[in-house]
Amino acid sequence: MSSDFQMTHRPRRLRRSPVLRNLVAENRVHADQLVMPHFCLNQDSASEPIASMPGITRYGRRQLVEAVGRDLELGIKSVLLFGLAGADEKDPSGTSSGSEEGAVPLAVAALKAEFGSDLNVMTDVCLCAYTDHGHCGVVEDGVVRNDPSLELLAKMALAHAEAGADVVAPSDMMDGRVDAIRDELDEGGFEDIAIMSYTVKYASAYYGPFRDAADSAPSSDASVPKDRKTYQMDARNRWEARREVVLDESEGADILMVKPGLAYLDVVAEVERMTDLPVAVYNVSGEYSMVKAAAERGWVDEAAVVSENLHAFARAGADILITYHAREALQGGWL
Ligand code: PBG
Ligand code: ZN
Repeated sequence: MSSDFQMTHRPRRLRRSPVLRNLVAENRVHADQLVMPHFCLNQDSASEPIASMPGITRYGRRQLVEAVGRDLELGIKSVLLFGLAGADEKDPSGTSSGSEEGAVPLAVAALKAEFGSDLNVMTDVCLCAYTDHGHCGVVEDGVVRNDPSLELLAKMALAHAEAGADVVAPSDMMDGRVDAIRDELDEGGFEDIAIMSYTVKYASAYYGPFRDAADSAPSSDASVPKDRKTYQMDARNRWEARREVVLDESEGADILMVKPGLAYLDVVAEVERMTDLPVAVYNVSGEYSMVKAAAERGWVDEAAVVSENLHAFARAGADILITYHAREALQGGWL
């Protein structure tokens, strides 16, 4: 290169200092966008660490209220609740999913009594923690049946709304469930309660630690399907995600979710381009546990990797980030 060569364009000019980089940063992640998931035991007091998800604990109601109170101080204003059912609460149809005395309605009531409208309480709506075979719908003759599951899901959503949930989040992937839940909520006088639909949910191996935590893995019994591939989406598909978006929008979903997150950022971007609704992404259990495992071994810098992952979701177009890292990310100032 000759010495009189003059380069006009130098992208590095804007990378010279942290202040300059922050000035021109295209995306930021704020605490208001974060949702912390919680596993709720149907007990007044209990605390069970989850081995495959270091840092995450199954809580009884007292411990849940304490943890959520501490998280609120950090700025986490939204939670997503998953119910855990004892063996005595499980049956083939997951009937106890609609009980007012279930883990979720009682947890919602406890949180609302303590924090009122300062806290946005979202609840997962699905049968798998309540069915003895672990599927997200009713099984008949070895098949997960769609339409008979809708009524149970709608009843479950209604029980959550009656307990005070602000948003219900169906994760079952039965066709037509947003419509069924919207009808049931409206008939019950809950037309103001929003639905965050797991619109684009793939049949993913990244849910492994969650199924361990929620005791919701499909049973190995030969009379039921061995996996969720007849209702959750095929990881190879992108156009199919667009069809799910069209359906959930037409059925009245208020927020569209993509799940898992990291291996599906192209899908997050696709959904964000298609819809005017808020887009949520679920940074699922396996994604969390992989970061944790590598960080524990000193193989990656946890703070930097978590910040990179959460900003990648924002860059892809997600407005709402559901992540088990939420608490530590804010505590550590990782963002
Ligand atoms: C239940 C449900 C699952 C997750 C959220 N809701 C598991 C599954 O579908 O098997 C996964 C969450 C995670 O892995 O963190 N339908
Ligand atoms: Zn399920």
